[in-house]
Amino acid sequence: MLLIIFKIICLVGSTISIPVGKLNISKTNILHSELLPPDHIRGAHLEQDGDVNKEFHHEAFLGKLLDDGKLEWENYGGYKKLIKIFHQVDKNKDHKISHEELKEWIHDRITEHFNEAKSNSEKIFERVDLNKDKFVSWIEYKSQLMDLDLNSLNNSDQAIDEKNEFLREAKNWKNADYDGNNILNMSEFVVFLHPEHNKRVIEIMADELITPMDVNKDGKISVEEFTRLPGGIVDPEEAELDKQYQKERKEEFERDMDADGDGFVTKEEFCIYLDPRHFQHASKEAKYLINIADQDKDGKLSEDEMLLKYQLFTGSSFNDYVKILHDEF
Ligand SMILES: *[C@@H]1O[C@H](CO)[C@@H](O)[C@H](O)[C@H]1NC(C)=O
Ligand SMILES: *[C@@H]1O[C@H](CO)[C@@H](O)[C@H](O)[C@H]1NC(C)=O
Ligand SMILES: *[C@@H]1O[C@H](CO)[C@@H](O)[C@H](O)[C@H]1NC(C)=O
Repeated sequence: MLLIIFKIICLVGSTISIPVGKLNISKTNILHSELLPPDHIRGAHLEQDGDVNKEFHHEAFLGKLLDDGKLEWENYGGYKKLIKIFHQVDKNKDHKISHEELKEWIHDRITEHFNEAKSNSEKIFERVDLNKDKFVSWIEYKSQLMDLDLNSLNNSDQAIDEKNEFLREAKNWKNADYDGNNILNMSEFVVFLHPEHNKRVIEIMADELITPMDVNKDGKISVEEFTRLPGGIVDPEEAELDKQYQKERKEEFERDMDADGDGFVTKEEFCIYLDPRHFQHASKEAKYLINIADQDKDGKLSEDEMLLKYQLFTGSSFNDYVKILHDEF
């Protein structure tokens, strides 16, 4: 499928060699994929492979509540929870959620995802730092990925990106290795798994994403460039998917990337877009949610207005409810 083939980051760059042992490196040999940099980053607009994160709206709204399971509609339980959240967001207790209140709430939720990712990465670091010297080498990491005995591995050099399978990990590793000594300490390792946690790496990522998209080489991205399909034969069966893909990316471009609305995304705008902690995201998301749900157009949300847009806020739909009924009876 085109969406899967068009992985922007994977198209970037060439060979990066990192000294590793001579072992058969194939992603099919990985036993512990939970140690790899996650593709999907909660509370961030873009996934690591460059696709738009479709879960962003309710991730930004729910924060860690997501882990309770999406607020399922079942037995009105989800409704009650959503009303409870409404009152938490409504700080001044006037039974209306203002843009300011929603913005603060969303920023706190995105920060929750961010901190959770950091603490998960630190746990993974403890796990992969086998010799407990507070550094992780590529071979140490890799032995854990494949569940191999570190002593059985060979320390001779080998490029890790054979068949480009580890290209993303290799790039993340190199970008995170601030002092360039090939081994990562804990804070570098967090950035390896979550490049969006470091301003310097965000800039590198922005360059890496912009360069292949910037067809006319003017240093900024137009909506045409951002929604461009990779060349080659167009499969008629995929035309509909392609259209959907382009529509989603156009919306993302206009809503969340092109901050000054001049039709171009500059490197500065791209860096802000990639930094989940930038307040712009909370502000824009609050505006977006209010715009969609605010039926009486008073610029604020009432309880009813929020409940009527249940799926937007929770990611759970009536369809799920209908399915539950259908499955049970
Ligand atoms: C490496 O592993 C892959 C997948 O298990 C296998 O298909 C391939 O033949 C192996 N290559 C070598 C050189 O052992
Ligand atoms: C380790 O690497 C060296 C040099 O490439 C090679 O000669 C040797 O056979 C390797 N040993 C193992 C166990 O793979
Ligand atoms: C890791 O190394 C970087 C320099 O590359 C340094 O700035 C940072 O403080 C170190 N972090 C830890 C936890 O030692």
